[in-house]
This record gives sequence, structure tokens and C-alpha cells, in this order.
Amino acid sequence: MKATARAHTNIALIKYWGKADAKLRLPLMSSLSMTLDAFYSDTTIERAEENSEFYLNGQKQSGQAAQRVFNYLTLLQEKFDLHDPLSVHSINHVPTAAGLASSSSAFAALAAAFCKFYQLEVTPKELSRLARLGSGSASRSVFGGFAIWQKGTDDESSYAYAIDETPKMDLHLLAVELNQQPKKLSSTQGMKDAQSSPFFTPWIKRNDAELKEMVKAIEANNFTSLGELAELNANEMHAINLTAQPGFTYFEPNTIKAIKLVHELRKQGIECYYTIDAGPNVKILTPLKNVKDIEKNFESQFNNVKIVNASFGPGISYLD
Ligand code: DP6
Repeated sequence: MKATARAHTNIALIKYWGKADAKLRLPLMSSLSMTLDAFYSDTTIERAEENSEFYLNGQKQSGQAAQRVFNYLTLLQEKFDLHDPLSVHSINHVPTAAGLASSSSAFAALAAAFCKFYQLEVTPKELSRLARLGSGSASRSVFGGFAIWQKGTDDESSYAYAIDETPKMDLHLLAVELNQQPKKLSSTQGMKDAQSSPFFTPWIKRNDAELKEMVKAIEANNFTSLGELAELNANEMHAINLTAQPGFTYFEPNTIKAIKLVHELRKQGIECYYTIDAGPNVKILTPLKNVKDIEKNFESQFNNVKIVNASFGPGISYLD
């Protein structure tokens, strides 16, 4: 008996960057994301002989990465009064080159495979709550298209839901790899450190209005508003990192160069916007007609740059 689930990564257009409760992963703000077709994780769970084990892309893992998975499995098992040692095999179809965090797809796939393995009958909402306990952003990867993770006030009320699983918007995300080094500061730590910024409270206060504006842009199929807001929201997140006490940044020199290139392309009439997560790589939002031009411009300005073109992906699926 084994169970396999697939979850796609998502990119936040309105970011989750701050926790109200670290253990339950309750956020201080609601977030909104686009699930991506190009990047996903496949996770299989079966009973282990003796001790739980975790394989990533065929390699047995030890240390921190494995510990996070085991702690999460223990937490899920305690919830449902289950006790078996488990063997977890995950394949990440998230090229490190893309610079996209895989924790969203990883923990969503893990939560789904766990529920399938034990034949737990959970609703998508309950699955989202369980995924959230592994990694906050994973709560949104349960759904395809555009999803909102409503912050809620407790474990019950903090979950994601889809606002449109098959959006009509002509929206592509170009994941531009500028730096292949693994990130030095995890999202978990970065969002904790950011709370010392004098702009952290204003950041939280703006969330409600920004989320509403983003939903309006999606409902009106307005790419320009969506892009402008996503870029502003990402800049706010990185501004609080820079102004934290002590300050820090995920930006590298090439991040700034890419930001300037996006500004320049916009001046030339090639409409595109950027968003950046907890790393130096830049993701560009644009309609399909601009993809080739943008790729050409990035390829001419950066050496050996790798660009992956993604669009809307689906929610959780099961592969048996
Ligand atoms: C910048 O979901 O990785 O990508 O809950 O601590 O695992 P943990 O954090 P994680 O943080 C994601 C941060 C982000 C923004 C986002 O995806 O909303």
C-alpha cells in the first residue's frame, strides 16, 4: 500500500511575510498566489520497515531537511493518533535553476500523500490547513489558478481557498535564474527578523487594502493593475528586510540589474513587472506576447541566464 500526490509550486503576488504564531504557522496577513504549471513535487508515502526515512530526488536525506519532514509527519500522526514509521520519496520538478522555493509544493504534496495513504477523508480546506502546518505557503498549493490564504485567527480559520482555478488572464511568469547558490537565510528566519523594521506595522496594516485591490484586478482581468500591485507588494516586503534592525537583504547585484532592466523594458513599451521572494532571483509577470522579447533582453544582458516560462497550474492531484 502506497500513495502518491502531486502539488505545484505557487508564487505569491500578495506575500506572506510575518507570523502571528510560529508553531501553528498562523500568518499576520492574508496572501494571494498564482499556482504554476512548470514546477511541481511528486511525493510517495509507504510504511517503512523500521525507522522513518526521507528520499529527495532519489537521495536519502539526513540533517535539517529530513528533520523538518519527520517533525511534520510526527505532528500529523499525533493529530490522527497514528504511529507507523513512514518512508517518503519526493521528486522535485522544481529546477534549482528557477530559484523558486519548493517548500510550497513539497509540503502540499506531503500532506496530500499522507491523507491518501491513511485514507483520511479531508476536505480541500482541511488539507490546506494541514499543509500550512508544514510550510505556510503550502496552504495555497492545494489549489490551482489564483488562491487566497486567509490569515484567520486560529488553526481552524487559517486556510487557503481558490478564487479562480482556471483563470482567463493572459499571464505568464518568467523565472529568471541569476544566482544558483542556496539561500543563506530561510524564509522562516527572514520573516522573523523582518519584524524589527519600523515599517513592519504599516506593512501589516496595508494588507487588507492590497488584497482587496488584487482581487479586483483579477476579477476585472486587469493585468496592469495586477502587475503594479504585485511589484509594489514585493518591494514593500524587501523594504522591511532592508530596514529591519539589523537590516538584511536577499538582493544580489544582479537582482538590482534585473529590476532596472524591467524598468527599462517598461519604458520601451514591453509591459512587465517583477516579484521577488526570499532569494536573489527575479520572477517576471507578463502577457504571452512579450515573453520572447523579454527573454532576448535578459539573455543579452546576463551571462548564461536560465529562464523558465510558466503559467497557471492545477491544484493537488493523486497519481496511483
Ligand atoms: C517570500 O512558506 O517558506 O515566499 O511558513 O516558514 O515555511 P514557512 O515560510 P514559507 O514562506 C514563503 C515566503 C514567501 C512569500 C509567500 O510565498 O507568500
